[in-house]
Amino acid sequence: MSKEAKLELDGKAHTLPVIVGSEGEKALDISSLRADTGCITLDESYGNTGSCTSRITFIDGEKGILRYRGIPIEELAEKSTFIEAAYLIIYGDLPTRDQLRQFSELFTEYQFLHEDMKYHFESFPSGAHPMAILSAMINAASCFDDELMHWRWGKANSQFNIYAAKLMSQVRTIAAYSYRKSRGLPLIYPKRAYKYTANFLHMMFSSPYEDFELRPEVVKALDLIFLLHADHEQNCSTSTVRMVASSQANLFASASAGVCALWGPLHGGANQAVIEMLEEIHREGDDGSKFITAAKDKGSGRKLMGFGHRVYKNYDPRAKIIKRACDDVLSKLHVTDPLLDIAKHLEEAALKDSYFVERKLYPNVDFYSGIIMRSLGIPVEMFPVIFAIGRMPGWIANYKEIMDDPKSRISRPRQIYIGRALNHYVPLEERK
Ligand code: ACO
Repeated sequence: MSKEAKLELDGKAHTLPVIVGSEGEKALDISSLRADTGCITLDESYGNTGSCTSRITFIDGEKGILRYRGIPIEELAEKSTFIEAAYLIIYGDLPTRDQLRQFSELFTEYQFLHEDMKYHFESFPSGAHPMAILSAMINAASCFDDELMHWRWGKANSQFNIYAAKLMSQVRTIAAYSYRKSRGLPLIYPKRAYKYTANFLHMMFSSPYEDFELRPEVVKALDLIFLLHADHEQNCSTSTVRMVASSQANLFASASAGVCALWGPLHGGANQAVIEMLEEIHREGDDGSKFITAAKDKGSGRKLMGFGHRVYKNYDPRAKIIKRACDDVLSKLHVTDPLLDIAKHLEEAALKDSYFVERKLYPNVDFYSGIIMRSLGIPVEMFPVIFAIGRMPGWIANYKEIMDDPKSRISRPRQIYIGRALNHYVPLEERK
């Protein structure tokens, strides 16, 4: 592989260094292009732009490969837990027994919100979307921590361990509170005895009189969903977190911005949109065929939600794992869900249809995850919130990567202006 590429512009040759990643991915380093040639590159929606080098997650979208810190997602899904994978993603290595214990203890220590935050929950209207509450409350939580507000990277990096655990722990408490608030239910406090995922289910579903029955298969299924969402390199929300972090905003502010980016139906909101699509198909008595026809028609405003991906041009490896888990959980819980049959039929039909085949559109992680969450009793508006809880380690690791890099600069893309050329102010009375 040559070490540089040649670009000829107006008869003048320019060399661009070739960067090769540890898995052989190649990039042209164009960082000096504007200074050398006066040109920038244009790549709307960043389909072909690397915004950073990163050591966290590797994806090969053609082959359907996903690895956290080099470890295949399939191995982690089978053998690990969300909290262990979170440590791996944030700190770069699997934890020793002691490191895992210390990490878990921090979660317990910081799981309570400041009591005054309860008043903020009160002020949201009933029916407010929990993603709006989540984003607002993560940002608000930073105001209740004076040290965090004044913390500067490099001054006391050991504080980062606390803030990382605090964010992951409190996001779960905030998420459960936002659900309880939306239902008008009394808030349930976390319990010291419960581990991460069990505690979340407890805060969601226990009552003041009786603890929710924590069935191991339910806890395991939700923990798997968190783990499968834990990082996914430079997607829309992670890039947003990095963008905000690059201005040296604090960790909570950066994560709060990530929640907003995740909320949209083309990203983390897709799991909610999938269920709404399947319900609509079910209501209309369609087996999915009519919907597929509509999804292929650009004028219909329809898309097959949970299908397609910017990076995967093959089966999303997470979708394979989730599909198996979906069958497993539903059978263990003795749940039959007509939406699962519709989803399977949709998948089968789409994978045979030339429209989807030619465009390499396969099920993504969101296609089956909603059916599992439904079977666990999680309401549909909470699906993107579950995604956000799961994605927190990835956002934190990306934040850390930016802050650890002494060469890191504020992110600031350029543009090509296509508006009016020089134009002059016309006083109001002279305007026609
Ligand atoms: N249904 C129907 N057609 C689709 C779909 C879909 N789900 N996804 C892509 N296409 C079509 C596009 O219309 C386009 O067709 P064209 O070439 O004839 O114009 C072609 O496939 C390529 O798609 P793009 O829009 O260029 O793909 P892009 O990379 O910009 O978008 C995205 C990826 C947003 C995921 C898209 O596939 C989509 O909207 N899918 C549905 C929403 C979804 O499931 N999002 C979750 C993504 S995973 C995640 O964030 C966790």
